[in-house]
Amino acid sequence: MARVISIANQKGGVGKTTTAINLAASLAASELRVLLIDSDPQGNSTTGLGIAKTEGMTTIYNVLIGGSPINEAIQPGAYDGLSLIPADKNLVAGNLDLVGVEDRELVLRRAIESIRGEFDYILIDCPPALDLLTLNALVASDSVLVPIQCEFFALEGISQLMDTIERVREAFNQPLEIEGVLLTMYDDRTNLTRQVETDLREFFGRDVFHTVIPRSVRLAEAPSFGQPIIAYDPRSRGAESYIQLAKEVLNHEQKSRTTA
Ligand SMILES: Nc1ncnc2c1ncn2[C@@H]1O[C@H](COP(=O)(O)OP(=O)(O)OP(=O)(O)O)[C@@H](O)[C@H]1O
Ligand SMILES: [Mg+2]
Repeated sequence: MARVISIANQKGGVGKTTTAINLAASLAASELRVLLIDSDPQGNSTTGLGIAKTEGMTTIYNVLIGGSPINEAIQPGAYDGLSLIPADKNLVAGNLDLVGVEDRELVLRRAIESIRGEFDYILIDCPPALDLLTLNALVASDSVLVPIQCEFFALEGISQLMDTIERVREAFNQPLEIEGVLLTMYDDRTNLTRQVETDLREFFGRDVFHTVIPRSVRLAEAPSFGQPIIAYDPRSRGAESYIQLAKEVLNHEQKSRTTA
């Protein structure tokens, strides 16, 4: 049964998509069956994996709103061992369209149910909003991974996200865990990065991943070639850091299995 992880932070541009693509590819490189669901109308995970947005392509929108079977939306082999459910701008309407749907927060969870046996990990790249798309992702997930950019306003909005997670736990009777808080665009030459790190480790304690993702031009370039960093520049620090993150996520799951 797949472990389902949402990658969420309503703040824009903090590294959600970069993390979704590269964690997914790094897990797939460990011979695991991985599905990445692009649930952001920007469709950055889709483009970043080199999948062209074509007219008539079955996307997550068709699954959430059109009743398309989820397996029809899966594009296998987006990258070695990694499958993708794409998104495109049609999903902008998804939020509004979902409002009128019965059990509107449960649509993605129910859709994923039928394919959980086919994957080891299902990652969901969320949009920069606490909207119905993000709610659907959280309700469908075992855990949530929160990328936080090392900058002055890093913690802004985080309490709102934590409140939302708590509400999902209560309203849907679901043990939604914190997979971890991930420091992104980390630059240890700056005092600011170090200060933000200290604050976050104090605030979140053991929930912060040991691995940090360095600020790296190579990581920013890779999506324009439609490649995860382990393909684009496997020896880069960015590639190393995402492989390290994948190891932490794997260890985390083993630990939660042995203590369950
Ligand atoms: N570690 C990094 N080093 C350098 N640039 C990065 C890094 N991580 C992400 N970026 C760049 O920062 C920008 C935002 O990253 P990304 O798209 O992953 O964030 P996001 O949270 O998904 O954004 P959105 O909220 O719009 O979906 C992108 O241009 C990306 O290439
Ligand atoms: Mg994104």
